[in-house]
Amino acid sequence: MIRSALILSALTSSVLACAKHDNHHYPETPHKKRAEAGESRDWEYATSYDWGSLNLDYELCHTGAHQVPIALTPENGPATSHKPSFNYAGSHDGNFYNWGFGPAFTISHEEGNYTGNPSLTYDNTTVYLTGWHIHTPAEHTVAAHRAKAELHLVHVDAEGNPAAVLGIRMEPGTSNSTFLEQLPTPMIHWNETDSEEHLNMNLGLALEDVENLDEYWTYDGSLTTPPCSEGIRWFMARRNLFTGLEQMRAVLRASRFGARTTQQIWMHNVNG
Ligand SMILES: *[C@@H]1O[C@H](CO)[C@@H](O)[C@H](O)[C@H]1NC(C)=O
Ligand SMILES: *[C@@H]1O[C@H](CO)[C@@H](O)[C@H](O)[C@H]1NC(C)=O
Ligand SMILES: *[C@@H]1O[C@H](CO)[C@@H](O)[C@H](O)[C@H]1NC(C)=O
Ligand SMILES: *[C@@H]1O[C@H](CO)[C@@H](O)[C@H](O)[C@H]1NC(C)=O
Ligand SMILES: [Zn+2]
Repeated sequence: MIRSALILSALTSSVLACAKHDNHHYPETPHKKRAEAGESRDWEYATSYDWGSLNLDYELCHTGAHQVPIALTPENGPATSHKPSFNYAGSHDGNFYNWGFGPAFTISHEEGNYTGNPSLTYDNTTVYLTGWHIHTPAEHTVAAHRAKAELHLVHVDAEGNPAAVLGIRMEPGTSNSTFLEQLPTPMIHWNETDSEEHLNMNLGLALEDVENLDEYWTYDGSLTTPPCSEGIRWFMARRNLFTGLEQMRAVLRASRFGARTTQQIWMHNVNG
């Protein structure tokens, strides 16, 4: 009873905060923090090669030593280091919305407590899934090929700081993705950033769609949107998440171009 009341209040306040201050979602940052900071977007993908010059706070976008995304190749890996194990069991309440560039979802939780969220453990560190968002086209290329879309599952540490992202490339295939089948269609459009729909999701289906990340790349990275903060562990699934043709069209219809220009590989320590 107490728990559901808290969840309800968290949901209500995030919806209100969202409508009041924040038309533009910072996907890599937890929903609540974004809304409190009252941030509004002053950057565009059309000039993503030069985000560092837009705002003093975005310096890392230009000076950072492990910026994301990068061009991956089959020769990197598969990795055995930082091996992730997942606890994505169960289904979770949250809000389905659009981060301004594509479909997104935030998991509801008690204020400041992420420990009931699905989790990912690597290097004896456990981080918590706050939600996901989709970029179209994919941000990472593999052997110079760019997939139609890329799903980012964003994880924070126990204090709520962004810590790890799992990226999964999405391509149209011959049957529907069970993960995407959970989403209401038509999906909330990119120009409807004030809309939210309550949704209960089994996040583990995203992992099942890529054979539980049996093969992956991992590297030291950053947020892929300003302020491009570093210290983020990246995991990229080697397998694609395949969607039905109509599913991919539904994602694309709700999205606009949202891929940062590829960054030079420097201190990323790919699969190291
Ligand atoms: C955090 O939430 C989980 C379940 O969502 C609960 O089991 C745990 O007791 C909570 N921790 C605190 C400190 O409230
Ligand atoms: C994880 O913990 C175990 C047991 O304490 C330790 O042997 C191992 O070195 C740790 N691994 C890392 C990457 O910190
Ligand atoms: C938002 O998108 C819908 C569907 O494409 C369109 O009908 C509507 O005119 C758009 N509104 C704005 C403000 O761009
Ligand atoms: C696949 O998803 C599309 C729309 O997302 C739906 O119209 C279609 O019926 C689904 N196909 C199957 C076999 O479930
Ligand atoms: Zn992202």
